Amino acid sequence: MADRTLNVVSICGSLRQGSYNAALARTLPQLAPEGLSLKPAPAWDQMPIYNFDIQNTTGFPATVTAWADAIRSADGVIIVSPEYNWSIPGGLKNAIDWVSRMKDVPFKDKPVAIQSCAGGVLGGARMQYHLRQSLTSVDALLFGRPEILVTFAAKKFDEKTLALTDQPTIDIVKQQLAGFETFIRRLNGRK
Ligand SMILES: Cc1cc2nc3c(=O)[nH]c(=O)nc-3n(C[C@H](O)[C@H](O)[C@H](O)COP(=O)(O)O)c2cc1C
Repeated sequence: MADRTLNVVSICGSLRQGSYNAALARTLPQLAPEGLSLKPAPAWDQMPIYNFDIQNTTGFPATVTAWADAIRSADGVIIVSPEYNWSIPGGLKNAIDWVSRMKDVPFKDKPVAIQSCAGGVLGGARMQYHLRQSLTSVDALLFGRPEILVTFAAKKFDEKTLALTDQPTIDIVKQQLAGFETFIRRLNGRK
């Protein structure tokens, strides 16, 4: 059915209590168009560091299969992540590495949009391009524009409540989410 609600999972790349990326991820349901329902993917923070020997002896850990199942059953994925040392935070990359080894790779043909918040002027751009590279290796279908690069994040969120207060950021996030809905529906129409 063309107009059913699309279920999208959000994945946050930061575990920090006061994380701006987590705050942005929490805000997404309020900014999403009517046709798009958002919920967080299961946590990835208890996944062991990828090791083929674990996969080969005890199989994929339960945390990995839960994460993979949530991605597989979603219509799309939004990754909201900081940039660590010009790249993808290790824990998030580890999670992608784990599921990339599965027979039924959950990111295959999965529409994915990316957002990042950072303390500085580049807004996590380098992380986004590394993430695009890794996700292309697992056959994800990456949403292009608009990009969401929240620069100087401390100025865009309320210091106490972490509510997103910056109107231009709110506007462009809404625009991305609306574009992402159209992108997913267009891809679904081609199946
Ligand atoms: C290990 C580490 C590496 C970082 N490297 C970068 C970086 O390469 N580029 C950048 O813009 N910010 C970098 N930062 C600063 C983050 O942008 C900033 O801490 C941001 O608030 C982290 O996201 P969060 O609030 O969601 O945890 C780094 C922070 C940490 C903890």
